[in-house]
Amino acid sequence: TPAQRPQWGTRIGFVLAAAGSAVGLGNIWKFPYIAGQNGGGAFVLVYLVCIVLVGLPIMLAELMVGRHTKKDAIGAFIALEHKRSWWQTPGWISVSAAFIISSYYSVVAGWTLDYVYRALMGRFAGTDPAVVEGMFGTLIADGSRQMVWHFVFMALCLAIVISGVQKGIERWSKILMPILFLLLTLLFVNGMISPGARQGLEFMFSPDFNKLTPGSVLEALGHSFFTLSLGMAAMITYGSYLKREEDLFAAGLRVVILDTVIALMAGLAIFPIVFAVGMAPAAGPGLIFKTIPVVFSQIPGGAILAVFFFLLLSFAALTSNISLLEAQVAYLIDERGWGRKTATCTIAALAFTVGIPTALSYNVMADWTFIGNRSFFDSADLIASNYLLPIAGLLIAIYVGWFWGGDEEKEELMAGGAGWVYPVWHVLIRFVSPLAVAIVLYYKIDEAGLWAWLHGLLQ
Ligand code: PHE
Ligand code: NA
Repeated sequence: TPAQRPQWGTRIGFVLAAAGSAVGLGNIWKFPYIAGQNGGGAFVLVYLVCIVLVGLPIMLAELMVGRHTKKDAIGAFIALEHKRSWWQTPGWISVSAAFIISSYYSVVAGWTLDYVYRALMGRFAGTDPAVVEGMFGTLIADGSRQMVWHFVFMALCLAIVISGVQKGIERWSKILMPILFLLLTLLFVNGMISPGARQGLEFMFSPDFNKLTPGSVLEALGHSFFTLSLGMAAMITYGSYLKREEDLFAAGLRVVILDTVIALMAGLAIFPIVFAVGMAPAAGPGLIFKTIPVVFSQIPGGAILAVFFFLLLSFAALTSNISLLEAQVAYLIDERGWGRKTATCTIAALAFTVGIPTALSYNVMADWTFIGNRSFFDSADLIASNYLLPIAGLLIAIYVGWFWGGDEEKEELMAGGAGWVYPVWHVLIRFVSPLAVAIVLYYKIDEAGLWAWLHGLLQ
């Protein structure tokens, strides 16, 4: 007889594991930055609307699909259809997205480990700012150094996932997430008492509606997807370990609130200290790997704050990446009958291998270009976050809203919420969320010149 399928031991265990998946580099580095650039408070408002109208409904839909079927993301759709059908597509897209993202995310997480190491060695505090700023260039120019950290990070993920849902993922989420929250709180308080607090608050919150373009709205929508780990099989898989009697609405809502609060706190930890030393907030990886280390080289307590900050990033990345590995492992266990050990080792080895070209993107393979002159890393990120996630999310919203059986089934899954919750959610998942995601998708395809690229391939 097959071993019993795992379940979360406690509700808090599920919430911390799912929040661990959601809280990642997207919260700590990307959200604060795009908020500042897109009109501060005005953007934060739009973002909150997107989270409520699109993010939360699709999060609940994924958790429902998982919990109802008790299957991995692909098996879930087979179970719902009682056969193999076209509706496996969102499952396949999600698991593919999980595979692609887990490979390059591990390389970026490796950078954060490298910076934890440097911080512990005291390489930032009191060092010449130009030297500190140059460290990132040195790191990405060094393929073997990145591969070592990529390997270490993937090994840590493997060690957790191989131990199972309760003994690995739940246990480590219960340890890492409270530490993460404590570190963030210390950094947040440090930001709020810094001389740059006022400027930081203004950068993130003072509403400038002139900077809020249609592009910002698309950005807010796209980000609400990535930040909640939607369309990448993680939430279906984590939902599949939820007990029947658990209040799904309350659990999903808590995860969304935690993700949002942590993103806001991250901005208020970062920007005040950046402004306090008279620097400008940078774009892209420059913000966390160049600007912030320079800040730490200059402010009082920088040596210890640097350790806190990069540990925070590493923990955030670790709990996110294990959800992606688990999503793939669950497929091999549930659909292919593999054992957890073999499945975890296989997926970790594959993701490690496919991550290698990312580690080589800015050195050995610096001259190689893939989609529209992008590096391997940027191409992988483009395909996964700009296309696979929204396509999977769109199909899931349509399936759950329009094709999934009778209302009673879904209503029962939402039983924990107040009376108005189900009807409101149902309108959102049928009309509002799919329409919003379809619009984002249209513009993303247009923006990247993907049509032109495909056209070029066919010539
Ligand atoms: N939700 C994560 C974030 O905001 C994104 C993510 C999750 C990425 C899981 C990879 C794996 O950063
Ligand atoms: Na997030």
